[in-house]
Amino acid sequence: MPGLREELGVDCCIVNGENAADGAGITAKLADRLLAAGADVITLGNHTFRRDGIGAYLERSERVVRPANTGAWTPGRGLTVVEARNGVRVAVLNLLGSLFIDAPVSPWEIVDALVDEARAQAPVVVVDFHAEATSEKVALATWLDGRVTAVIGTHTHVQTNDARVLPKGTAAVTDAGMSGPHDSVIGVKAELAIRRMRTRLPVRFEPAEGGVRLEGVVLDCSDDGRAHDIELFRLAV
Ligand SMILES: [Fe+2]
Repeated sequence: MPGLREELGVDCCIVNGENAADGAGITAKLADRLLAAGADVITLGNHTFRRDGIGAYLERSERVVRPANTGAWTPGRGLTVVEARNGVRVAVLNLLGSLFIDAPVSPWEIVDALVDEARAQAPVVVVDFHAEATSEKVALATWLDGRVTAVIGTHTHVQTNDARVLPKGTAAVTDAGMSGPHDSVIGVKAELAIRRMRTRLPVRFEPAEGGVRLEGVVLDCSDDGRAHDIELFRLAV
């Protein structure tokens, strides 16, 4: 990651790490490794609390955020602010979608107040919207157009061909893709995923191994937070 940051001229690197621990959740050790490798912020998702001990880690971490709408009693934070390498403050906000996914609180109920809170602290605001439905991701990006720098979709693992800057200056993509083994069914050994779907019997999932790629987006914005460009990124490793 350090070499890649140099090559792409990245001032701030945000990693969705919710599947870093063998495809489900993240551990404190893995989060620390990602941060040491060059991530400035790690966002999470519906698997945030799958691993023991992560709650206590999230309580003390300022750079690992879980979705802001996981309910009042969950540990951790949904919004953080970091300084990019060029000195610009960047707020990162993580939210879970509400369609076909178990969000304890609707993102729509809290997003406006959270965006106001983020904008009061930083000119650049990036939203990781961890959601299942393309419609909900497009809707939230459109709702936030002109108020945030970018709305980046995660969770569905398949990079979508719709990276664009909306009319009022917010960059958006429905899904940034998956960094992981692409000879798979969204990271899982294909035969196991297919067996579960065909038979409807419980099958223990294991991560696949082949076709590893890094995927994401490269976002270009000015210091005032207005997006100029968003490009899909894909690299075989
Ligand atoms: Fe997810």
